[in-house]
Amino acid sequence: MTQRKGIILAGGSGTRLYPITMGLSKQLLPIYDKPMIYYPITVLMLAQIREIAIITTPEDQDQFRRLLGDGSQWGLDFTYIVQPSPDGLAQAYLLARDFLNGAGSAMVLGDNIFFGHGLSELLTAADTKPQGGTVFGYRVADPERYGVVDFDGNGQVRAIIEKPEIPPSQYAVTGLYFLDGTAPDRAGEIRPSQRNELEITTLLETYLHQGQLTVERMGRGYAWLDTGTHGSLLDAGNFVRTLERRQGLQTGCPDEIAFDQGWIDADQLSQRAALFAKNEYGRYLAGLLKQS
Ligand code: DAU
Repeated sequence: MTQRKGIILAGGSGTRLYPITMGLSKQLLPIYDKPMIYYPITVLMLAQIREIAIITTPEDQDQFRRLLGDGSQWGLDFTYIVQPSPDGLAQAYLLARDFLNGAGSAMVLGDNIFFGHGLSELLTAADTKPQGGTVFGYRVADPERYGVVDFDGNGQVRAIIEKPEIPPSQYAVTGLYFLDGTAPDRAGEIRPSQRNELEITTLLETYLHQGQLTVERMGRGYAWLDTGTHGSLLDAGNFVRTLERRQGLQTGCPDEIAFDQGWIDADQLSQRAALFAKNEYGRYLAGLLKQS
């Protein structure tokens, strides 16, 4: 199997968070001590994916480049792709067609934050499936805000419905999609929805109708955090702060994962620690060096 590649979709209009996002991309906003996009990057890293395309609006690309560079600080390889206008999540596969070059992909939305014991095992299991697709269903109190899974009486998935008025279940589909190399061709065949977007749920249904979609339930031991409103953004930041203060461990720390995986060496980590020497993040990285 060709090595799976990563996509982070970090465009969109961000209007729900106006006025904050009038001057700054949503995915660059802070979640406590790190920019939001650090968290989805670490999800792909935990899935052992190192070649990653970052899709942004034309206006915001420079800021992402300034923050993230070419990825070599973490032993990663970033490619930047522009989405001229926010025409839907499934469009990412058309924009990334050349980058993927036939490989399977893991796409994560740049505003999705995951946390949980065993996350890397869950991701690795999804990665080992060479054909078809895997997505994750997570129980939420407000499923009508998401793509929702419709299960039949035997617990088999019957449909995935985007923002249904009457949700058929409590299970939302998270913004993390493991799809095989056919995704760009499939995305090229689907039609825009009534709101004129190429919907990810329509793309997923093409897999579902061929019996090629697995919906893994992400259990209550995981946190899938929302960042879609001002309140939930603050809650996500507080969640990360609470965890980090209690455990003395970072969550969503690409530097730590890169070092653990051996993708960067102690010298590289120490340069990163020096860059952030004035704060807790830098002291944390310096601490990792002492333990190694
Ligand atoms: O978060 C999971 C949900 O994400 C799924 O359950 C839904 O099925 C899926 O449609 C999506 O729903 P949202 O309402 O969150 O989609 P939104 O339009 O807010 O876009 C999600 C992120 O992707 C957001 O950070 C902006 C970015 N985006 C969005 C569109 C439509 C792009 O980069 N390009 C786009 O064209």
